[in-house]
Order: sequence, then C-alpha cells, then structure tokens
Amino acid sequence: MKARIVTLPGDGVGPEVTAAAVAVLEAVATHFDHEFAFDEQLIGGAAIDATGEPLPAATLAACQAADAVLLGAVGGPKWSDPNAKVRPEQGLLGLRAALGVYANLRPLTVHPALAALSPLKDEKLKDVDVLFVRELTGGAYFGAKTKTADTATDECKYTVAEVERVARRAFELARGRRRHVTSVDKANVLETSRLWRRTVNRVAADYPDVTLEHQLVDSMAMLLLTRPASYDVVVTENLFGDILTDEAAAIAGSLGLLPSASLGEGTPSSDPAGHPRSEALRGQALPPPAGEGNPVRPAAATTCMGLYEPIHGSAPDIAGKGVANPVGAMLSAALLLRHSLQLEAEAQAVEAAVDHVLQHGPRTRDIGGHAGTLEVRDAVLAVLEEHVSNEHAFFSGARSCG
Ligand code: NAD
Ligand code: IPM
Ligand code: MN
Repeated sequence: MKARIVTLPGDGVGPEVTAAAVAVLEAVATHFDHEFAFDEQLIGGAAIDATGEPLPAATLAACQAADAVLLGAVGGPKWSDPNAKVRPEQGLLGLRAALGVYANLRPLTVHPALAALSPLKDEKLKDVDVLFVRELTGGAYFGAKTKTADTATDECKYTVAEVERVARRAFELARGRRRHVTSVDKANVLETSRLWRRTVNRVAADYPDVTLEHQLVDSMAMLLLTRPASYDVVVTENLFGDILTDEAAAIAGSLGLLPSASLGEGTPSSDPAGHPRSEALRGQALPPPAGEGNPVRPAAATTCMGLYEPIHGSAPDIAGKGVANPVGAMLSAALLLRHSLQLEAEAQAVEAAVDHVLQHGPRTRDIGGHAGTLEVRDAVLAVLEEHVSNEHAFFSGARSCG
C-alpha cells in the first residue's frame, strides 16, 4: 500500500516520541512491503516561532490531503503567558476542528508487568480494558469566550447532532467489544449534560444488544479508581474526557503509555488541496473483520480521516533529555495503521512488539527503568523485525485469503 502520512512533531518531547513512532512505521513499511511517504509540518509553539501562527495554512492543507496525521505534542512554558495573543494549543484545537475528528478513542489496558507501578492494588487491575470515547470538537473547548479585566467566560454548547454522532460511534465500538456503554455527564447540574443524556438514551434504542448506564462525572472519577475493570466503552464530552483519561493513564502506570486515535466520519471524496488519496484506500467501504482482542476498531467505519497522538503533553520537565517514553506515540502509530490504513496485521505486530518490550525491558524512567527513548525505540524495532520474520508467511497468507 502507498500512503501519505503527515507528521507534526510539535514541542517539548513531541519531536522525540514522534521520531520513534515514525521509525516504527518505517520498519512496518519495510517488513510488510508498503510505501509510506512522510511529510513533516509545523504546529504549536514551533509553528508560532517560525510563522507567527500555531496552525499555518500549509500545515492544514497538508493534513487535509494526507491519508493520516501523526502528532507529538504542543505547548510549553515559552508560549504559556496568559496574555499571549496566540497559543500552541490553538493549533491542535484548530486542527481537530478542521479535520472534523469528533471521536477521540483512548484505550486503557494495564500491562501485567507494569502493575506494580499503578497506584491501584493488583486485584483492582485484573481485566481492566476500557475504551474511552471522548467527544473532541465541541463543548467548552469550542464555545464562545469572553474576557474583561475581572470576568471571563467559556460557553459550553452541544447540539443533538454532535452528541448523536459520538454516541453512535461509542455503541458501534461496544458491539465489537463487551457490549456495554457507560455515558458520563453532569446531568444533575448542566443543561448540556441533560441534552447529552437524552440524546444518548435515544441512540441506545437502536442498540438493544448493548447495555447502557449513566454515571455523573464526579462519581465516575471515583469509580474509575475503585472498580476500573467494570467499564467497557466510556463515552463522554470533551472536557470530562480530557480529565478522566489522564486519570486513566495513571492507572496504567504512566501518562507516557496511552495512545489515541481521533476519527472523523468517512473519507471525503476530494480534499481542498486537490490531491487524490492513496489508490489503495479508495473504494474500501468497510474495514476488515473484527480481530479477536482488537479493542478499538470501529465496527462500521469507512476509511477514516484520522489524527493520531499520544494523550500526554509536551512534558517540558523532561524535554530534550532523551528520556521520554515513546510507547504512547508508538501505539498511536499502531492505531493509525489500523484505523486509517486498514492494516490490522501490521497494527497488531507493532502492539505485540511494544508489549514484549514492556514485559522484558528496556524501560524508560517513568515506568521504573533507566533507558532512554532511543534504546526503547531500538528494542521495539528489533522485536518487530523478529516477529515479522516469524509471522510474515502467516500474515501474507491470511490477507490473500481475504
Ligand atoms: P504533560 O502531559 O506534558 O506532563 C505531565 C507529566 O507527565 C510530566 O511530569 C511529564 O514529564 C510526564 N510525561 C508526559 N509525557 C511523558 C512521556 N512520554 N514520558 C515520560 N513522562 C511523561 O502535561 P503538562 O505538564 O500539564 O503540560 C505541558 C504542556 O503540554 C502544556 O503546554 C499543555 O497544554 C501541553 N499538552 C499538550 C497535549 C497535546 O499536545 N496533545 C496534551 C496535554 C498537554
Ligand atoms: C489532550 C490535551 C489537549 C486537550 C490540549 C493540549 C489542548 O490535553 O490532548 O488531552 O485538552 O485536548
Ligand atoms: Mn489532556
């Protein structure tokens, strides 16, 4: 397959972890005989420094024309002055909105070898497998803002259509998993949450095979810590999802571990930059069949516009030291292979290689090791190569049999 992938390293540890994820994708291309063309573009603070804008037009055009976008992180103290006119984060929010990637999938599992790093006791960690579906292009992040010397407001607005599409995505995903959806809101206080709950209930009627429960966000923050294994798909609005998923990462052992996939509707038939999409992606109305243990494949998605990023930020405290954990970024690359390129076997190969390295090391400092980013990258590449040489015949056979 030929695919064009835009990379947006961004700020802080962003370039360090993105380089590791790109190395993984390059290895996948070599081992599985694909052609991935990478196009690095500016975003965030790096873009402000170079052009004055956090999302230059050239970056957006390249992303809109690409088959997938891989992002590191944006932001940092250099651009954090509360009075600053432009902020790195505006670049990321603008990109999410412009690409229409309204469903942000953030899977949480706990690797048994890292259980001791979790603040939770072992017995709570058994069978934890949660897929957060965070609404990504609405709510307080995108409402009107006002500011005077002594007052500020951020409007939180949701439409039925915005809630409905993300709820449907959550129910579809639940069908490929354990068929349970937990919808998180603050319906006892917020009008937007009451609209959210009404709409989710209406959507649920179309999925009688999936059970639905509602939780208020404050108790959900507590329940995630007391019984994380009881959740399957958790769907929630933008701000609640941001907060709950950092909490979820702590359960896994480090913020550096969790990947994300931000997905839109389907592939636009043409894109504003006028480039055709990769030949191999055309006409693929349906994804391949669900793989056992594949927690995050949309059950009924067409080829998706996808933005892939680890859930962590630019980690200014460790930036430039070569110690950032690249696992969240590498697993985001696996999600890119799965969701945007429909390369399930390749995605699983990357996940298996990362899994092996988490089990046997080397590990970065945040998960109890002493290794640097490059050492972990090289270990994953080595396992990937070995895995592929053992499995390649099987994968090629499986694919040609459909
Ligand atoms: P952060 O996620 O950058 O860091 C929080 C803590 O986690 C720090 O101690 C950091 O060292 C650690 N950490 C994060 N990623 C790690 C990794 N890969 N390996 C090892 N340790 C890691 O959050 P913050 O410090 O609150 O925010 C810093 C900046 O990042 C802010 O400007 C914020 O807006 C931005 N941010 C960007 C994104 C994004 O681009 N998607 C996400 C979150 C925060
Ligand atoms: C994330 C980040 C972003 C968010 C920031 C940097 C805008 O925290 O991706 O989780 O709040 O969505
Ligand atoms: Mn966040």
